[in-house]
Amino acid sequence: MGPSYMKSRRYAKVAPVLPGRKASEVVKKTREYVSPSIDRFYPLAVESAHGSLVRDVDGNQFIDFSSGIAVLNTGSTHPKVVQAIKQQAEKFVHFSYTDFYYENIVELSKQLISLTPGNFGKMVYYGNSGAEANEAAMKLARNYTKRTLFLAHSGAFHGRTFGALSLTASKPIQRKNAFPLVPEVIHFPFPYCYRCPWKQTFPECDYYCIDYFKEQYLDKFVPVEDVAAYFFEPIQGEGGYVPAPPEYFKRMEFLRKDGVLFADDEIQSGMGRTGRFFAIEHFGVVPDIVSVAKGIASGLPLSATVAKSDVMKSWEPGQHASTFGANPVAVQAALATLQVVKSERLIENARRLGKKAMKRLQEMKEKYEIVGDVRGSGLFIGVEIVKDKKTKERGVEEAEQIIQYCFHHGLLAITAGRNTIRVIPPLNTSEDVLSEGLDILEEAISETNKASMKG
Ligand SMILES: Cc1ncc(COP(=O)(O)O)c(C=O)c1O
Repeated sequence: MGPSYMKSRRYAKVAPVLPGRKASEVVKKTREYVSPSIDRFYPLAVESAHGSLVRDVDGNQFIDFSSGIAVLNTGSTHPKVVQAIKQQAEKFVHFSYTDFYYENIVELSKQLISLTPGNFGKMVYYGNSGAEANEAAMKLARNYTKRTLFLAHSGAFHGRTFGALSLTASKPIQRKNAFPLVPEVIHFPFPYCYRCPWKQTFPECDYYCIDYFKEQYLDKFVPVEDVAAYFFEPIQGEGGYVPAPPEYFKRMEFLRKDGVLFADDEIQSGMGRTGRFFAIEHFGVVPDIVSVAKGIASGLPLSATVAKSDVMKSWEPGQHASTFGANPVAVQAALATLQVVKSERLIENARRLGKKAMKRLQEMKEKYEIVGDVRGSGLFIGVEIVKDKKTKERGVEEAEQIIQYCFHHGLLAITAGRNTIRVIPPLNTSEDVLSEGLDILEEAISETNKASMKG
């Protein structure tokens, strides 16, 4: 007998008590055998997932607003991606690109080179994860410029390995007891307009944040001629889904006159999610290096560091490689992913669905005291929860209550930063599923809002 559903909607179907028996067992055994360094949102134990729907081991069905943390842009188990994986797996699963050649890397590289901004020669380095893409970018930038310093933002998330972690400045726990990190990374504030560190208002501020950076950093202690690269996420992800204001990166381009490379981390924001292939396209800036991972292969581990040819050519054979980089099955999955993004017009979809979601979320912002800010582009949307709209005190507990309510009502929503809820469903989610997901999210916000007003 299946579970008796407390609320059986059209798509979301969950039992009154979660986790169920089997999920509880998976959670218990995972806690026993797997590193406790991994912090999870709630006890979801996946049994299968297709498109935007996820089943757990007890037969509950959830709507996916997380995309496996911005990876499943084509949805789960897209038939074309699965077919490509199967076909390649039957031919060969591995033959390290560090030592040998195979064909599909050439095709993927050509496509990535043409998709990344900039009409000039580029080359691609492949790794397995986002962190590795940024490690390669750091090492490459130092090698090319023969400089040591990096610039990065507070709130940034670039990965958890030592190099990438040195750029990351999103939560102290991620760096706890890990020092010393890679010297020298200089962090400066991200233009988080909703919480402007200088209490300015955009656009009247006229980008005061950049004046401050020049006066307090470049004029005081950062010799720009020693800076190898400036790393940034055009829209911060783990930091709380924070888009930079429109001209920010253009106005930062003065750094390039002094030879600073622009290293654009598109790991979370790329692959069509924001309604452009790469988020930096919204800003009209052409980076020197682009890091791509997460959605690139619809869930198979693969990352790419795409750099200007003269930058990449500064490396000599043997300077950098990875056994599993450009795994042929992952590369084939990436080629299928790119084909699906194109043939199913997923970028246009992200824009169209994003507009619908944004409209509803903006209405929620008007309606509920605890919705402080709604921001983003395409299907890369953050809903910042506060205790009070005026003081903007962070609604950390409230955001937690909202995602827990969602889980218990069949929606997988997760937070970013401390108090922002991400709305990042697969880019081919149907309007019906999106709308049901937004209904559950609104119910969660409404219930939490009520409790917060009483409290
Ligand atoms: C912007 C950004 N860069 C880098 C990473 C690290 O990627 P990975 O976890 O694959 O190492 C992430 C992961 O969330 C990310 O969001």
